[in-house]
Amino acid sequence: MEQLTDQKAIDYLTHLGQFGRLENGGVTRFVYDDAWIAAMNHVLRDARTRGMAASVDSYGNGFMTYQGKTADQVVAAGSHIDTVNQGGLYDGAYGVTAAVLAMSSLVAEFGQPKKTMTAVAFSEEEGSRFPTSFSGSKHYAGVTETAADLQDHQGMTFGQARQSAVSQLAKTWPVIEQPLPIEFLELHIEQGPILEEKGLSVGIVSAICEQKRFTVTVRGQTNHAGTTPQHLRRDALKAAAKLICDLDEAAGKIGEPLVFTVGELTVQPGSSNVIPGLVKFSVDVRHPDKQIVDQFEALLRKKASQTPKVTVQVDRWLDSRPAIMDARLKHQFEQLIAKRGLAYMTLPSGAGHDTQIMNLKVPTAMLFVPSRNGISHSPKEYTAPADLETGITILKAQLYQECY
Ligand code: GLV
Ligand code: MN
Ligand code: MN
Repeated sequence: MEQLTDQKAIDYLTHLGQFGRLENGGVTRFVYDDAWIAAMNHVLRDARTRGMAASVDSYGNGFMTYQGKTADQVVAAGSHIDTVNQGGLYDGAYGVTAAVLAMSSLVAEFGQPKKTMTAVAFSEEEGSRFPTSFSGSKHYAGVTETAADLQDHQGMTFGQARQSAVSQLAKTWPVIEQPLPIEFLELHIEQGPILEEKGLSVGIVSAICEQKRFTVTVRGQTNHAGTTPQHLRRDALKAAAKLICDLDEAAGKIGEPLVFTVGELTVQPGSSNVIPGLVKFSVDVRHPDKQIVDQFEALLRKKASQTPKVTVQVDRWLDSRPAIMDARLKHQFEQLIAKRGLAYMTLPSGAGHDTQIMNLKVPTAMLFVPSRNGISHSPKEYTAPADLETGITILKAQLYQECY
């Protein structure tokens, strides 16, 4: 039961990481791009060699299934295969790796399960290409469909990109909408420093933080940089810079664990001798307490409406409520970890995960493994191979309890 003999997690991850690999060792794999299509094909082909039934749905979520003997109940586990711009090998990919390796190892050891086991490779979680996050799990869970007219930075719409990618996958894989599982499990790297600091190889997630994301559009007046006196300018970039600094100061006053990030900013027309007329930037704000995030949103809107000489539009495109993990599944994780003589802790997740979407519909549980130096969303993401294996061993034991 403890041995995961057929493949090391790091080998699976390294192979998957070839799709979208960058020279600096990182990975950029945006939903529906060529690297993403190649990665999804690879994951599904690999699953087929393990005897899993492989299919996609109309969002390009990948499903890899061992049919159960008795019930038509499905237990699902997995994560996403898209990455942030210049991300690492592990975020999302580890959860897919873990689900596939744990399930195939179980079937090799114990044969056909009673309940159906499905490993899921979600199409998109990061919100890195289109102004939307979790579009894959939202579709699978039947929470919301993503608007087809959302655009990426090149002007390609979500609908066009989806249609093109899914029709390429459909040449090889059946396109089948899948039923909801009875529960969902996700393994993920912690993406923070806590487990490493405490010397633990595994952590159980208690809840996932509330987070909101916005696009803020600042409209001023494009004009000549040499002839327009300072007092007559309507400079969108200076207004945006002031607004961002004010919000950062306000975030500091509210205090941790609130986190506030502006990770994207575009300036138009983007010339050194032209006063910027249009600036767009993103805002990502998170806290375990929904009320505090609501309070920050109100402040953002107030400060935006008070910014002089420009107009500021605030569009919220993500609002996820905190997700509480299932007590029974959490308790079972605790027992399985303790039985192996391992120390662990319970911790909340500041990062968003597909689990928070699945949690709107079914009981969920999550396990973290440590991230070296707490680094994630970076080519420097790293988790020690032994910790990767420990996480998968626990997931395998949990799936055994649930499916056999
Ligand atoms: C997902 O990776 C997030 O930004 O939390
Ligand atoms: Mn992730
Ligand atoms: Mn991520």
